[in-house]
Amino acid sequence: HQAELTLDPAFKVAPVRRRTFGTFVEHLGRCVYTGIHEPDHPSADDDGFRRDVLDLTRELGVSTVRYPGGNFVSGYRWEDGIGPVAERPRRLDLAWHSTETNEVGVDEFVRWCRKAGVEPMMALNLGTRGIAEALDLLEYCNHPSGTTLSDLRVANGSKEPHGIRMWCLGNEMDGRWQTGHKTAREYGRLAAETARAMRTMDRNLELVACGSSGSGMPTFGAWEATVLEETYDVVDFISCHAYYEEKDGDLGSFLACSTDMEYFISSVVATADHVGARLKSSKRIDISFDEWNVWYLSRFHGAEPPTDWPVAPPLLEDHYHLADAVAFGGLLITLLRNSDRVTAASLAQLVNVIAPIMTEPGGRAWRQTTFHPFAQASRHAAGDVLRVEPVSPSYETKEYGEVPLLHAVATHTEEGTTLFAVNRSTDAPLSLKIDTRALGGARIVEATTLTDADVYARNTADAPDRIVPRPNPDVEHDPARVLLPPVSWNVIRLA
Ligand code: AHR
Repeated sequence: HQAELTLDPAFKVAPVRRRTFGTFVEHLGRCVYTGIHEPDHPSADDDGFRRDVLDLTRELGVSTVRYPGGNFVSGYRWEDGIGPVAERPRRLDLAWHSTETNEVGVDEFVRWCRKAGVEPMMALNLGTRGIAEALDLLEYCNHPSGTTLSDLRVANGSKEPHGIRMWCLGNEMDGRWQTGHKTAREYGRLAAETARAMRTMDRNLELVACGSSGSGMPTFGAWEATVLEETYDVVDFISCHAYYEEKDGDLGSFLACSTDMEYFISSVVATADHVGARLKSSKRIDISFDEWNVWYLSRFHGAEPPTDWPVAPPLLEDHYHLADAVAFGGLLITLLRNSDRVTAASLAQLVNVIAPIMTEPGGRAWRQTTFHPFAQASRHAAGDVLRVEPVSPSYETKEYGEVPLLHAVATHTEEGTTLFAVNRSTDAPLSLKIDTRALGGARIVEATTLTDADVYARNTADAPDRIVPRPNPDVEHDPARVLLPPVSWNVIRLA
């Protein structure tokens, strides 16, 4: 197969948004306990954080981290997680049928964020709680001092305010599974009044209203319209959540799953702009794609329902193979391609729970296959996103009809241009010709590919580097051409 595209710095989409490289830490399974936090671990620091996980988080190039949920947040009392650890209550977590010990709360999380060099992004409980508790948490976190709540934070060891700018107004409130699930109108009213009150305390906050939990939700489209009708003036973002998996061995459709993400984004943008037009507003609402990933949700739903209430049980521990990483890379490309409206995103999640980083309790930590596309994109995507218009052969998929074999995006700075490309073909390489005439003599300086003869090969604690990006030997210059192996994620740097 042959494909081609043109790199031209004149065709800018938008700046690369650092927040595209956000992730998510939820009190779920082993994400917090034995994930980021494990005081008995040999690598633990004075605060009980695993240094091996901190190192991998930095290497992953994470910008923001959403916390503490997810479904968990809709039953969470934030006050349980502050003050002396020995006095913190143990609670039932209805979302994940677990016992929450509250050893980690907002102060520990922010401390971890500072060590990891990431921006914290807080989610509020609008399931079982409301405006008052949201305001209390905001005051506790962000008010400098001189009030009971802010002085309590100081007394608990955080003299400086946490300075959290980005707040999610609840989580997946459109889902029946959500504790305190609401109709769009009920939720929209509550979100609007919460946002209005929060802005009275700090008008510079960035607030995210809950959009749909997936493009297949029965209320998709109508939900966004109603919620934004209520909240348009007081929020900055509407959220999108999407998870994909290979179903019934249909690898072709799975590798094309970013087609659904594209549709999701364009539908939400159209809906938001429609509401804006009706309200005669010049304001534009952006998307926070604050949960996205490959997740074998059908396996989770197929499992026996739990009868006990364990502490930090292994939950949602998907082990990703090469094909998962390539589908994942396609999703990342789609997020970047839409950087004009998707200005924040969070990979769900960071450690152990559908995550790029895995750990053994008390033992090793390693990079899953999906770690690599994320880390490479975070490291090399810089400057402006360029519109590339690939000319590519297509293939027929069961789920999405005709889909191009090549999925690509590029970013550009004065120092160089980077092309991120996926070959979705399951059986043939793709010869990609790159028109570099507008780049003033730039040549390919590096080309890596993430691929394997076995598309279901995984990384494990014993073989952590089975799947890693390797130099692509099939590169030609004048004209620039790279051979993309079947089922591959590729990074091509030009300077
Ligand atoms: O990321 C796992 C779960 O997926 C989150 O808790 C929830 O928001 C979503 O359904």
